[in-house]
Amino acid sequence: MKAIRCKKYGLPSSLVLEDIENLKPGAKEVLVEVKACGLNFPDTLIIQGLYQIKPELPFTPGSDVAGIVKEIGTEVKHLNVGDAVFGFVAHGALAEEVIVPSNACFPKPPQMDFPIAASFMMAYGTSFHALKDRGHLAEGETLLVLGASGGVGLAAVELGKLMGAKVIAAASTDEKLALCKEYGADMVINYSKQDLKATIKEMTQGKGVDVIYDPVGGNYTEAALRGIARNGRYLVVGFAAGDIPKIPLNLPLLKEASIVGVFWGAFAMKNSKANMQNTMSLMQWYSKGKLKPHIHAIYNLKETSAALEEMMNRKVKGKLVVRT
Ligand SMILES: NC(=O)c1ccc[n+]([C@@H]2O[C@H](COP(=O)([O-])OP(=O)(O)OC[C@H]3O[C@@H](n4cnc5c(N)ncnc54)[C@H](OP(=O)(O)O)[C@@H]3O)[C@@H](O)[C@H]2O)c1
Repeated sequence: MKAIRCKKYGLPSSLVLEDIENLKPGAKEVLVEVKACGLNFPDTLIIQGLYQIKPELPFTPGSDVAGIVKEIGTEVKHLNVGDAVFGFVAHGALAEEVIVPSNACFPKPPQMDFPIAASFMMAYGTSFHALKDRGHLAEGETLLVLGASGGVGLAAVELGKLMGAKVIAAASTDEKLALCKEYGADMVINYSKQDLKATIKEMTQGKGVDVIYDPVGGNYTEAALRGIARNGRYLVVGFAAGDIPKIPLNLPLLKEASIVGVFWGAFAMKNSKANMQNTMSLMQWYSKGKLKPHIHAIYNLKETSAALEEMMNRKVKGKLVVRT
């Protein structure tokens, strides 16, 4: 079968498409014929050796998958050969076939097409876990989302609104912010033109925001944290800007605020029942038309490097999908 291979750590241009041996699922695993793989920023990091997980070389990147069950392990009870599914793997989904742990593989609703299903898990799973389990976002609170038009960011905007928050979306262009407004943002900040802390204070009449969702890091983090409300929660989601910020600890002290880490992949594996419940809630919202993953573009497997470069160049709104 064909797979994208990372043979040495490097930029997307160093990835190759080649034939590799067919895979065989273990007892608690499912072999999925991949129809679509959703790209995520961690895919750009894992191939450079910059992610928290460093697979042994050579390996196949790609985490978010949708496809058809081709073979099941002897202990898998909730799925059958031929079922349409979507799921999540640490890596391996940018290929014609992938092995998915059975507790991370879910039946795909018929009305959800494969590209949408492959865009769902990481973006909505991360953002729901972050806002609900880590941020305890409550109705009526104010939520600030940085990188708000990105994969996890746009999901956080949509979910924040569904959870009853007032949502401030922050991003680098007016075009990106226009999409955030379509997804329900009440207010927007263009952080390439506006002062983040001053604008947050102005928009909240000096009170600050209750929850901050930060998948960007870099210089934005301290400016945003300076705009947090008393008892606020700062969700550390990622560092797409590249730099891991160092924070003066007097800032959370002064506001009695919490800085809270979010690592959805670890949560999903270690608390698979809780993740399953979150996934059910998300699917119910999806089936009622309340969540609409935004697909920026669809590529084929040969174009994977170009797609990952587009993401690294900050050109993507919502999600990129690779079809196999
Ligand atoms: N903790 C977790 O469990 C978890 C799960 C999934 C993802 N993540 C992390 O969350 C972050 C976002 O992931 P994603 O898949 O949503 O990525 P994405 O779609 O590429 O979104 C990232 C956003 O970050 C902003 N950004 C600022 N500086 C950037 C730069 N130098 N390069 C690229 N983007 C930059 C961009 O928005 P502007 O141009 O508007 O600034 C972009 O829309 C990543 O750091 C990823 O590792 C964490």
